[in-house]
Amino acid sequence: MTELLEETATPQGTSLPEHIAIIMDGNGRWATERGVSRVRGHSQGGEAFRGLVEACRTRPFIKYLTLYAFSIENWKRPADEVDDLMNLLRHYMKREAATMNENNVRMRFIGQFDNLAPDIRRDLAEVEELTKNNTRLTVTMAVSYGARQEIRHAMQQIAEKISRNEIAPDAIDETMIAAHLRTADIPDPDLIIRTGGEQRLSNFLLWQSAYTELYFDKVLWPDYLPENLDQAIASFSRRERRFGKRNA
Ligand code: FPP
Repeated sequence: MTELLEETATPQGTSLPEHIAIIMDGNGRWATERGVSRVRGHSQGGEAFRGLVEACRTRPFIKYLTLYAFSIENWKRPADEVDDLMNLLRHYMKREAATMNENNVRMRFIGQFDNLAPDIRRDLAEVEELTKNNTRLTVTMAVSYGARQEIRHAMQQIAEKISRNEIAPDAIDETMIAAHLRTADIPDPDLIIRTGGEQRLSNFLLWQSAYTELYFDKVLWPDYLPENLDQAIASFSRRERRFGKRNA
């Protein structure tokens, strides 16, 4: 499949996504369909996450993978489900850190971390530190993340610099705003995939997705397979990205 996709690449090289971001939705419905607990759905979603990282790692054109693991709005879910999700995060980070490192995968985390338990913050920082020099694939996990909150945080930082006379208001441009987002050192996503059939962004990467191609898949996240990823990539490679310009 990779070879086939590479053959279809345009001379500009825009037909294969270098950065894929995924909204992993449908764990709850997967569990309900099987009459099992929601935590089973989330834990099966964790297995799909492992499979996806491996699928991306073995498709050499993918350099960045960004995953929406826990939104800022998810804190409003019942406390036991939030606890289950936090425990899964603990479990996966501990279990996967060494494998990611052996596979030359760099792990990063973005979000508003002041709500996270101190041990989780420490774990995330340790995984980032352990994998920081890895170069094959950068996996960014959005945890306690909201795009509007991310933009507000960037605005506050810029405003503080203005109040300290470090920058002038008319120096603010798009590059400066992007540089104050938590994603400052990674490119904008080429393709956002959402599983589970809903067709919305749910406060994910709102600034960064201005020209991102969107792909909605009905498959529930725990059932997500490399074939589903290849279908999304094939759809992406057939699209013409004009970035607001006209065809030649
Ligand atoms: C959405 O499903 C998914 C989440 C809120 C959490 C995503 C978490 C995982 C994929 C597992 C954890 C992975 C790691 C690495 C920690 P939903 O509950 O909204 O599903 P529904 O729309 O069917 O109810």
